Parts: sequence; C-alpha cells; structure tokens
Amino acid sequence: MAIAFRKKKMDSRFWWQIFLAFAMAPAGARSQSTDAIGFLSIDCGLEPGSSYVDPLTNISYVSDVGFIDTGVNRNISVAYMVDVRARRYLTLRAFPNGTRNCYTIRSSAVARGSKYLLRAWFFYGNYDGLSGQPQSFHLHLGVNYWDRVNVTTAESSYRTEIIAVATAGYLSVCLVNTGTGTPFISGIDLRPLRDSLYPAANERRSLVLFSRWNLGEEADYVRYPADPVDRVWMPWSFSSQRNWNDVSTNSTVENVPGDFFGAPSVVMQTAVTPINSSILVLAWDPVPGDVNQFFPILHISEIFNLSGTNQSRQFSYYVNGLRTLGNIVTPPYLYADAVYGEVPLPSFPTYNISLEALSNSTLPPILNAFELYVTMSNTSVPSDAGDVDAMTVIKERYQIQRNWMGDPCSPIAFVWDGLNCTYSFSNSPRVTALNLSSSGLIGEITKSVASLSALQYLDLSYNNLTGSIPDDLANLNSLKLLDLTGNQLNGSVPSNLLEMAQNGLLTLRLDGNPHLCNNGTSCNVMPAPKKKKISTPVVVILCIFPVLILLALIAIVWRVRKTQGLRRGGLVNPSNGFLKQTDNALQLENRQFTFMELLNITNNFQKILGKGGFGSVFHGHLEDGTQVAVKLLSQSSSQGTKEFLAEAQHLTRVHHRNLVSLVGYCNEVNHLALVYEFMSQGTLQDHLRGRANSARALSWRQRLQMAIDSARGFE
Ligand SMILES: *[C@@H]1O[C@H](CO)[C@@H](O)[C@H](O)[C@H]1NC(C)=O
Ligand SMILES: *[C@@H]1O[C@H](CO)[C@@H](O)[C@H](O)[C@H]1NC(C)=O
Ligand SMILES: *[C@@H]1O[C@H](CO)[C@@H](O)[C@H](O)[C@H]1NC(C)=O
Ligand SMILES: *[C@@H]1O[C@H](CO)[C@@H](O)[C@H](O)[C@H]1NC(C)=O
Ligand SMILES: *[C@@H]1O[C@H](CO)[C@@H](O)[C@H](O)[C@H]1NC(C)=O
Repeated sequence: MAIAFRKKKMDSRFWWQIFLAFAMAPAGARSQSTDAIGFLSIDCGLEPGSSYVDPLTNISYVSDVGFIDTGVNRNISVAYMVDVRARRYLTLRAFPNGTRNCYTIRSSAVARGSKYLLRAWFFYGNYDGLSGQPQSFHLHLGVNYWDRVNVTTAESSYRTEIIAVATAGYLSVCLVNTGTGTPFISGIDLRPLRDSLYPAANERRSLVLFSRWNLGEEADYVRYPADPVDRVWMPWSFSSQRNWNDVSTNSTVENVPGDFFGAPSVVMQTAVTPINSSILVLAWDPVPGDVNQFFPILHISEIFNLSGTNQSRQFSYYVNGLRTLGNIVTPPYLYADAVYGEVPLPSFPTYNISLEALSNSTLPPILNAFELYVTMSNTSVPSDAGDVDAMTVIKERYQIQRNWMGDPCSPIAFVWDGLNCTYSFSNSPRVTALNLSSSGLIGEITKSVASLSALQYLDLSYNNLTGSIPDDLANLNSLKLLDLTGNQLNGSVPSNLLEMAQNGLLTLRLDGNPHLCNNGTSCNVMPAPKKKKISTPVVVILCIFPVLILLALIAIVWRVRKTQGLRRGGLVNPSNGFLKQTDNALQLENRQFTFMELLNITNNFQKILGKGGFGSVFHGHLEDGTQVAVKLLSQSSSQGTKEFLAEAQHLTRVHHRNLVSLVGYCNEVNHLALVYEFMSQGTLQDHLRGRANSARALSWRQRLQMAIDSARGFE
C-alpha cells in the first residue's frame, strides 16, 4: 500500500456517487458508551487457561485453547523478545499440518446477524529458526477469502482487520496453507459493532481494512479505550514533509447519535490542511494482481470556531479527477462528519481523491482521518445451518480430530474428511454422506446424526458404539445406506428402519453387533441357555406365561396370511448375511446355517416335533449340545418367502423372556428354515390341558395372569 499526497487539477464529470453523511445533533448528545463488554481477545500460543490484562489497553487476553484443537504452540526467538511492543507477540500458534486450520468463535461472543470487527495479528520473530525464508499464507473468514499474510523478515509483523456480519451463530478464522510456508498466528481480536456502523458491511459483503490513518497526529496509535470499538488508528503526521499543516484542538469532537462511523474524538481533534494551496490530494495504488474494490471513508470535522469571524471553509471532492454529485462539504464545528460511498469505487489502475476549496471559501480543505477498505464479497455460501450445528455436535461428541474445522462443506476445496456434500446455486450446501468408519467412536449414536436431514449414506461401521440405535434415524427421508457393522450396539433395531429396509429404500448393515437385541440373550450365535434335559424329547414350553408365544405367532401369521405359495429365487447371499429379495435388503443378526448344517443338526430331519403354518418343525442339537427346534419352510406351504422373512424379522425384533427366541436361520434357494430355542417341558396345550407327562397343569391363578399379560402384550 502506498499513500501519497499530491496536487491535482480539477475535472468535472459525473461517474460515481459519494454521499455526504452529515447531520447536526442537539448539543450535548453523546452517542456511544465505552462499554467493553463483548470484547474477545485471544493471545495465540498462550499456555492453556492463562490470561492477562494488557497494560497499554487494559484489555484482557486469554489463551486460544478452546478455540482450536490443532497446531502447535511456539515462542518467538529470544533475540526478538526485547523489542516486542505487546505481550501477544511473544507466543504464537503454528500449523505445520493440514491445509486449513480454523479457530471457531462461538457461544456468547457471536450472535447471528450481528456486526463485528475482527482483527488478526502476526509476528514472526523467527520462532522456527528459519529466519529469512519468506512465508506466505491465506486467511479466511468462514468460507470466504479475507487476506494474504506475507512475512518476509523476522521482524515482520502484520495486522489485518475485517468488518463482517456473522451469518451464523459462530465465526471461524481459518489459516490456509498455500504451499509457501507454515501458517501461524499471534492473536485474534473480536469487537462487536453496532448494526448502524459501517452500513456498507452486510451479510453479503464484508470490509477488509486497507489502511486507517489518524491524520495530523505524531504520537502513538489510538485504540481502546479512546476508541470504544477498539479500531487501530495509525498516526500520520505530515508537518515535516510536503506542504501540509498539522492542526489540532483540545475541544471534544462529538459524534451525532447513530453516526455511521463513530470516529473517536481524539482522532478527530487532529487534522491536516494544505499550506499555500486550496487542494489536498490522497493517492494510493492497488496491490498488484489483486482485484480490489476500494471503499474510502473521509472523516472530517471543523476544529476552529468560525462563527462570528468572516472565515469560511467549503470544499468539494473528486475521485480520480471525477466530480461527484452533491459533493460540497461544509465541515460541522466539533462534530464528526464523514464522506463515503454507498458503493465501492470503480476500478482504476491507480487512485486519488482530491479535496478542493470552493472559490468563495477563505480556508483550505481539512481532513481529520482517512479509512480505506476493500470489499470482500461473501460469494461462497456456508453450509446449511442445521447441518453445521449437527456436525458441530458430532465433532465434539466423539472428539473427532481430522480436518474438521471451519465450515463442513464450504468451500468445496476444504470439505471435511468423511463428508460428501451437494452444492447448488440457490441453496446452501448440504451433507449427503457421513463416513466415520473405523474412527474410534465411543459411546452412543448421537441423535444429532438424525438432524442431517439430507443424509443419504451413513457409515458408522467398526467403531465402539454402544447403546441402542436411535429411532430418529428413520426420519432421514433420503437415507439409502446405514452401516453399523462391527459395533457394540444393543437393544432392538427400530421397526421403522426395518420397514424402510423391507421396502427396499434402505440398505441396513448390522453385522457384528453381538448384543443387538434386548438384553443380549436371544440373538446371534450364542448358545441358548442350558436347560435341564428331559429324557423324553417333546416340544415343551418352559415359560411361565408362554401364551405370549402363541399370540406373537398368531399375530405374525395373521399379518402375513396370503396365498402365495412358492419361494422365489434370488435369495441367496450367504456370505454377508443379507437376505436379498428383489431390491429388498433385510439383515438378520442371527447365525446363518447352511442346509447341510441343518441336516447334521437334525440328524437328517429325523425327529419331528410338530407342524406349523410354514411346515414341519424338527428337533436338533447344535455342536455344543444345545437343543434347538428347526422350522423348515415346506415346498407345499401356503406361505411364501416374504412371509417367512417377515416372521424372521419379527422374531429378531420382538424379544421377551416369555417369547421363544430365534437362534438362526437358513437362507438358500429352495431351503428356508428358522432355528429356535428348544422348549423342553412340553407344549402349551399340554400345560393348559394338564395332561403333560410330568408337567403339572397350570393353576387358575397362572392362567388368569397369562390372560392379563397377553392382553397387555397386545395393547
Ligand atoms: C515458551 O516460554 C515459556 C516461558 O519462557 C516456557 O514455559 C514454554 O515452555 C515455552 N513454550 C514453548 C513451546 O517453547
Ligand atoms: C511476499 O512479499 C515479497 C516481498 O515483498 C514478494 O517478493 C513475494 O512475492 C510476496 N509473496 C506473495 C505470495 O505475495
Ligand atoms: C488522479 O487520477 C486521474 C485519473 O486517473 C489522473 O488523471 C490524475 O493525474 C490523478 N491526480 C493525481 C494528483 O495523481
Ligand atoms: C460559496 O459558493 C457556493 C456555490 O458555488 C454556495 O453554495 C455557497 O453558499 C457559498 N458559500 C459562501 C460562504 O458564500
Ligand atoms: C467409508 O470409508 C471406508 C474407509 O475409507 C470405506 O471402506 C467405505 O467404503 C466407506 N463407506 C461408504 C459408505 O462409502
């Protein structure tokens, strides 16, 4: 950046418009309080938990721990510590790993729709001992480019400011490695601004500071508390150079209420005027290669009392020699006034603004302060707010340490690992796939996953997830794949998910969850609890209220009663435990048996126990001696494979101590079978009739209780 003051002849064309913001207020009205609440000042690299009060500004600085979970803390080298102006420069955080590393400022510090001044500080101080190697990297605010940091010497320090409206309930400051050195940062300041300040900054456009000068001032720069919003006003005195006068007053310069810029009095009390000339010129060059849209603000106030004198001060202003409409300024006495555009300047190869006294003005132009911003269009759209919130919870819940910083989907170059997103012109990006396979997740499946409402693929396989599968997952209308393989989930699979799977909408993978069923006693390979063997093998009921079995089976049979006799082909997929029926993918958590195994278990279907709706039931022994009942779907069965699958599915879902449990199944072309726990104490009928061999008949009290329990079960 270069600022120079030159003289210039006038020209009069109308190109763009600068509006004069100018009003007089009732005497004595003060617009701004100096309330510091809402300031957040982060000293990057400071030890966790520590904080201090900066002696120059009385502002408290806190450690950056809690705002970021990546990067390494570094101290600047001892050689540079002596001359350091501020303590925040002594430490920094560097980011040797990852392309994008982000600080996230949330909680009470940021409110959606509010305006903020954000400032980042960089002091290299040869912290890495590589002094001399230029380091350059980018800074992003959220999903949009903010600035480029270019450090060329060990003494290099850099400060950049942005005025932005928070488009979400958080702000993220991201350092982006551009392949030209390790990004690092020394400090971050967040200052809330009134909505009315800097009206050119809005949700679609932020203002990045190019320069801010307190003209006519020789001493130190101005910050808080002199400036209640803690802008940094750099001093620039021209008395020693060119033909400019430094002028000043001791009187307070006021702001009108609702002032657009709130320039502090101490800044407005000093100014410059040209000597022996009626023209004052400001000039600057854009950074080569940057497409900058400049947004200048001229702060102007009369600091001499001209009333009662025959003096007058009036001037007009020109941009690159172009006259603008309504451009006559009469600076108000001891009130801060400003000249600024509502739109950025058109592009020029080089810029100048000239203030030129009117011919009837006895005094030359005056200029108290000057701010120059470049506009930053918020062109990248942040991800859907609901998705961001959900991903934030997921990240914190499972303590995920990946590149999960900043916006999950945006910009596209920095999508979080394990996510897929969709992008469209009109809508915010949405998360469509979340893959946290083998990510060491511990604990329950957070319900926030179900808030990712555009999710199509969810892979949580091979983690240590416990607890049950949240019902809410079925609210994910677009969900096509749910992979929960290899976890420690328990409870039963929500019926609505099973339904989706059955309707062919969802591929459900649940293998390798040994406890996925109520109280873990009834699924999968686990041998049924050993029961006292009775010498005469009869199908017997052990349960206290076994009528529930009947009722459940009746319910199943009733639900699926149809005349659809034959199995269809294409049901074979023995390797992965999926039953595939046309497009349906149904998974059973139980053991899968081959038909050959069933032959062995039942000793060639030697002992028949009874006949059911699907066919005959045979007695058998597993390898470990556990007795089982094998229900074989007969070729002539009036019920088809669909009903068979439905029964299997219901049995994996419905678990109760009074219900017989499913041990496994066989799923081969032409051979469908269900393998149940064997009830060794006789049939329910025997118990009801009281003529079982050794079992005694049920008492009336037990019968009554069974009836009540059954009724409850149905209800
Ligand atoms: C920085 O300096 C402090 C005090 O001199 C020391 O305690 C700390 O360990 C240093 N940190 C690093 C990362 O070297
Ligand atoms: C950084 O600054 C140096 C010196 O001004 C310049 O040569 C170099 O090109 C700059 N690097 C970038 C990436 O802007
Ligand atoms: C200001 O800009 C105009 C247009 O680019 C140019 O003709 C003029 O010489 C410039 N004035 C000064 C003082 O640089
Ligand atoms: C100076 O002239 C302008 C028009 O050129 C006029 O508007 C203004 O009132 C005059 N100022 C004084 C102090 O006479
Ligand atoms: C998830 O990631 C793992 C490992 O990168 C991969 O094997 C698996 O196929 C992915 N899952 C999906 C649904 O893409």
